[in-house]
Amino acid sequence: MHPQPQVTVLDAGGQYCHLIARKVRELGVYAEVRPSETPAAQLAGRKALIISGGPSSVYDPESPTVDPAIFAAGPAVLGICYGQQLMAHLLGGEVRKGEKGEYGLATFELCVPGEPLFAGADGRQQIWMSHRDAVAAVPEGFSVLGRTDTCAIAAIAEPARRLYGLQFHPEVVHTTHGREILANFLFGIAGCRRDWDTRRRALPLEEEIRRTVGERNVFFFVSGGVDSTVAYTLCLRALGPERVRGVYVDTGLMREGETDFVRRHFEALGSGTVSIEHAEAQFLTPLAAACDPEQKRRIIGEEFVRVQERIIESRHLLDGHWILGQGTIYPDTIESGGTQKAAVIKTHHNRVPGIQKLIEAGRIVEPLHDYYKDEVRDIGRELDLPADLLNRHPFPGPGLAIRCLCAQAEEAVRRFPEGWLVPVHSVGVQGDSRTYAPVLAIEAPDTDRAADLINRMAGINRVIARLETREPLERLRVRPAALSPERLARLRAADAIVRRLSHESGFDRRVWQFPVILIPMGSEEAPDSVVLRPVDSVDGMTARAVPLDVPLSAALARALLEIPGVAGVFCDLTHKPPGTIEWE
Ligand code: XMP
Repeated sequence: MHPQPQVTVLDAGGQYCHLIARKVRELGVYAEVRPSETPAAQLAGRKALIISGGPSSVYDPESPTVDPAIFAAGPAVLGICYGQQLMAHLLGGEVRKGEKGEYGLATFELCVPGEPLFAGADGRQQIWMSHRDAVAAVPEGFSVLGRTDTCAIAAIAEPARRLYGLQFHPEVVHTTHGREILANFLFGIAGCRRDWDTRRRALPLEEEIRRTVGERNVFFFVSGGVDSTVAYTLCLRALGPERVRGVYVDTGLMREGETDFVRRHFEALGSGTVSIEHAEAQFLTPLAAACDPEQKRRIIGEEFVRVQERIIESRHLLDGHWILGQGTIYPDTIESGGTQKAAVIKTHHNRVPGIQKLIEAGRIVEPLHDYYKDEVRDIGRELDLPADLLNRHPFPGPGLAIRCLCAQAEEAVRRFPEGWLVPVHSVGVQGDSRTYAPVLAIEAPDTDRAADLINRMAGINRVIARLETREPLERLRVRPAALSPERLARLRAADAIVRRLSHESGFDRRVWQFPVILIPMGSEEAPDSVVLRPVDSVDGMTARAVPLDVPLSAALARALLEIPGVAGVFCDLTHKPPGTIEWE
């Protein structure tokens, strides 16, 4: 149960919107995210509103806006980036369309000393900018608080009405005093009280579960991931082992040792309450004929639905004694402009007709639906769940199937002045649209050059660096390849090596996720190559390619080339966008 929100983040479509809410919560104040257009009347009682950044320009008629009544309604308002521009625009100021963007680190100079928003953050300081448009003239009553070399109006204020704006992003770590600035706004200006602490949540959550569940029992489909495990454990503690059951579906598409890992962890939780449903053949047989990534996803989604229905029916889980438990977390519950494929597949699984009936009848318990991933990890720590489980990287539901790329025709790798064109198509993302394009391979793992090449060369959506190949690149070929058990085993072996070596070197703690991909490029004897995809991210919506350390990259290349059938090892240098995190 969350407290009555004191803070609402109004989502204007910015990629950092959830990050703002998380940072507010880290300061000890519960924050919710609502669409930017939410009427002021529905925000009554808030102490503070924060308007997020967004990809738009205030002059675009389609761009998100806010109800202007929020500026007169009483709460303190902070506009960040697009939020500042929108505030200025709606209150009679002027926004200039930018010819050229300002992205990355900048130095902010505070012009008005003693301003409460910047208490403890005086003078020149490092900030993070990501904008094209900027405020050119402030509305009446506002003053300019600070500037950068390229942005004359980087912070604005109208203290009498408690309206503030920042062109830069206080929520990202690169803004040195970001945390102090947000704290000043929440506590010094808006008068918020601390009401949120994820370190002591377990007992109230257990109580809430008991209230929701009443006399009934709970069953879960568990995945071995953090969210479903924490939700399951909370229910187990709230209700006792007699009343909680879980099923883990082995699709045959999981990583090496995954089913054992799940079995061990659930056994350690006490009593044998999770059973394993073996359904490998049900997935692998139809997948053997699929090459197109969307077709693979469709098959996996449909088979998952069949397995779930079978289980629900055979165990009589639709009778009145049972309710469904799910590990849904806060970002999964919010409709946003972002189109995360994760959401699609999750929705899919959550909408099996049998499950839908349970949801409609209110027979569902989702104890984590107010929490972010990091908070779920905190709750997991409070429950004494082991660190190797809580610190797991996200792993997609369709598993290794989407990371094992297939091809239908034979084609050569072609030499270009910039590198080699690898005729393997993979999914990328540009704006809101999907791309499906071949890849450029280069020699040096240089992410800046990769970004530049993608912008300059039409028709590619990724750049990879060659770490090691058994033969010169131009001799490798792409050959027809299906999702065979042999290739899945090869990918599984590669993934296990990468996980082991990146764990031993500590590299896995420096990245958010580290997918390993198999592409059908190689020689007659060794038909495949491995692509490494270490990324840093906040929520998977955007991501930065992280360079591998030289010793780790050499060790990985050496070990991976020893797998029979592997001809080469590459590292993906593409940020998201324009690449996605997964290849498929
Ligand atoms: P992309 O590839 O879209 O991935 O950049 C963003 C994040 O979502 C995860 N992902 C999935 N998670 N089911 C999931 O549970 C899926 O079908 C799925 N597809 C992508 C991906 O691993 C990354 O963390």
